[in-house]
Amino acid sequence: MKSLVLFCLILSLGACAFNSKQQRLATGKQLSFQRDKGNCLACHMIEGGEDPGNVGPALVDIQTKFSTKSQLKALIWDATQFNAQSSMPPFGRNKILTPEELDLVVDYIWSLDAPVTGK
Ligand code: HEC
Repeated sequence: MKSLVLFCLILSLGACAFNSKQQRLATGKQLSFQRDKGNCLACHMIEGGEDPGNVGPALVDIQTKFSTKSQLKALIWDATQFNAQSSMPPFGRNKILTPEELDLVVDYIWSLDAPVTGK
């Protein structure tokens, strides 16, 4: 009986961790799409986003373009570090996103690692 209770507890903790990961990605997506936050769709195609712009490259297959999440974060924090002419707003440096919001956006963008299937 005791082990059954323990088993159920472990199971629900697992589900909880899974939910919070999904929750983070959902919030990151929302921040990325929101016009007064990331507004990434103004310049980037992101799967599931409406009326994307094409000023920047489509955000797909991210983990083949960046080898670590911190590289991706550095770019979103301030793209002008890598390209002085970049038209991409420096979301971290200019405090467009708070550090917590930036992390949520990075987690979401990092999850976009599958090629677009055309639908
Ligand atoms: C005003 C237009 C604009 C907005 C808004 C914008 N970007 Fe960009 N982004 C660019 C451009 C242009 C590039 C191409 C590289 C460069 O010029 O710096 C780029 C490059 C990138 C790259 C590198 C992609 C690759 O394939 O190399 C990532 C990742 C990225 N942007 C993420 C984001 C995220 C996340 C947001 C929203 C939080 C965002 N961008 C908002 C214009 C924009």
